[in-house]
Amino acid sequence: MLEKKILKGCIVQDIGNFETIMATHNFFKDKNLIDICAAPGGKSILLNSLGFNVLSIDKSQNQINKFKENISRLNLKLDIQKVDFLDEKFTDRYNSILLDAPCSALGTFRRNPDVTIKIDQSLIKKHQKIQLKMLEKSLKILNFGGFLVYIVCSFHPFETIDVIDKTIQKYQNVKIHNVVSNKMIKRQNGYFINPLTFKNIGGSDIFFVSVLEKV
Ligand SMILES: C[S@@+](CC[C@H](N)C(=O)[O-])C[C@H]1O[C@@H](n2cnc3c(N)ncnc32)[C@H](O)[C@@H]1O
Repeated sequence: MLEKKILKGCIVQDIGNFETIMATHNFFKDKNLIDICAAPGGKSILLNSLGFNVLSIDKSQNQINKFKENISRLNLKLDIQKVDFLDEKFTDRYNSILLDAPCSALGTFRRNPDVTIKIDQSLIKKHQKIQLKMLEKSLKILNFGGFLVYIVCSFHPFETIDVIDKTIQKYQNVKIHNVVSNKMIKRQNGYFINPLTFKNIGGSDIFFVSVLEKV
């Protein structure tokens, strides 16, 4: 089913990005999923291809425009809404949440070498503050027994392991799950995509993934 849809149209994404979803989507028992930082849509589109009914939100109109171009080229229909997640009041609760949080994008340095010049420690700390806020709010709108997948395209500890550590110290009703993937390296409370496993096809970006259940 996935192959059929990919043949109809085409969206190019990093193989590491693809793996973050392929390795985690089975945790989402409820196929109704909210993708909180969804644009330009790489992960929402993949989840849609895997049979999920995705509500895709993002605060950036520019990014949403790119997302809409992508889905019209692929002839797909997705529910895309311009929402600032941190400002919005949510009454609904969800069983399946994807939080592909804004980050330094240090993990994309192969394709964007300038990130290593543009990004410094203070900027990374600012990102961490936002990531913590977003993760905290995501947990608030997650049902008990629901799953949340946290992803960033970074390898910096502040945006990855520290975010999860700080969150589970604050909220004891969060359980971290193991991911089964031979394309990832396990660290405390999460996994990094291992670009070496994609060596034969040119490597990959580096992503961090953590699977959280609200218990
Ligand atoms: C890493 S990108 C998302 C990439 C996307 N998930 C994909 O796979 O194509 C992060 C996104 O978060 C969005 N964002 C940042 N702050 C946000 C907020 N407060 N509410 C909603 N979206 C936000 C940005 O506009 C950006 O599009």
